[in-house]
Amino acid sequence: MSYDVQAVRAQFPALSEGLAHFDGPGGTQVPAAVADAVGTAMRSAISNRHGDFASSARADGIVDDARAAAGDLLGADPRGIFFGQSMTANTYVLARALAKTWAVGDEVVVSRLDHDANVRPWVQAAESVGATVRWADIDPATCELPTEQYDALLTDRARLVAVTAASNATGTRPDVRGIADRAHAVGALVHVDGVHATPHLPVDVAALGADFYACSAYKWYGPHIAMTAADPALLETLHPDKLAPSTDDVPDRFELGTSGFAQLAGVTAAIDWIAAQGTGGSRRERMSDAMQQIAAHEQAVFDRLLAGLAARDDVQLLGTPASRTPTVAFTVEGRTPQQVAKQLAGSGVAVWAGNYYAVELMTRVGLEDRGGAVRAGVVCYTTDDEVDRLLGAL
Ligand SMILES: Cc1ncc(COP(=O)(O)O)c(C=O)c1O
Repeated sequence: MSYDVQAVRAQFPALSEGLAHFDGPGGTQVPAAVADAVGTAMRSAISNRHGDFASSARADGIVDDARAAAGDLLGADPRGIFFGQSMTANTYVLARALAKTWAVGDEVVVSRLDHDANVRPWVQAAESVGATVRWADIDPATCELPTEQYDALLTDRARLVAVTAASNATGTRPDVRGIADRAHAVGALVHVDGVHATPHLPVDVAALGADFYACSAYKWYGPHIAMTAADPALLETLHPDKLAPSTDDVPDRFELGTSGFAQLAGVTAAIDWIAAQGTGGSRRERMSDAMQQIAAHEQAVFDRLLAGLAARDDVQLLGTPASRTPTVAFTVEGRTPQQVAKQLAGSGVAVWAGNYYAVELMTRVGLEDRGGAVRAGVVCYTTDDEVDRLLGAL
């Protein structure tokens, strides 16, 4: 099956508004199937979970379906997947729960490649119990995260390593498996931020060596809701702060308050929509095929974007990562990133400017005080024409 980007675009009602969306790393638009699933859930009788009546059974079913779908997306056990308002919120829940198992002098390793949502919750949790924070650094020229530095960073006091599967600024894909192997060798757990990576590649949590893998559905054509996957046996050992009467079951005890059932219906629909772009037997197989097709399309469009930007003397690309998602950050001589973004917006091209919460990276490369950089990302519905529109408007 060959990838037909126009057929894909036709399924996204929002694209008819005409903007060229290079803001995918900030959040994608949704296909009609996802909007319909959310709307259908909201028009259906839904009550709180675990009741004897049909509307309660519907809520139970929606939650079970979403866990099963997320399991297929990530190659994870649905019994170890918890949902929450955002990846940031989920990571705070987890960091506070893990910190209860840490002692003074234990060590937590974070990286300067990461979005702050995979940094600050760990830094603050470490501070709350007197644990030490150690920093993995990037090479500011390439914006890569050298794996070998973890040999020196990791001691037998290391309890947790937090690392991203891909940078939401430069697209850099670090060697997560290499880092995870080193962490596991000293007995540390690994929390992988998959928010930026998940829309761009087939994910296999076990192959990555992730003890925890976090992602957000609104980055891959779904609603604004997030999930973290882990081995349910690992979650059994953790005790997040929660209300006294709420369930102590895993994974439910990691979900604070009443779930957003309509959003969860949208999660399942988004995963089914991605899987429907591929072929194969099981949903997991179709998902894997679809992600490879999407990645191949994105790469071709991204190559055009990168070549167009690189051809300009007045454009400076941020980093040269060997392995990356189709996302690039750049600056333009004589213009602030904010001026560039505004100019592009005037031409109907959506990009973000600033640090997009990759604040450690922007500080490390010396751009934090200069407005950061412009960021453009390619997703499943981006076209060559849109790339030309961006380059032309620039
Ligand atoms: C790499 C990465 N991690 C984490 C987040 C935070 O996700 P959420 O908005 O679900 O908290 C983002 C959001 O942009 C991101 O790009």
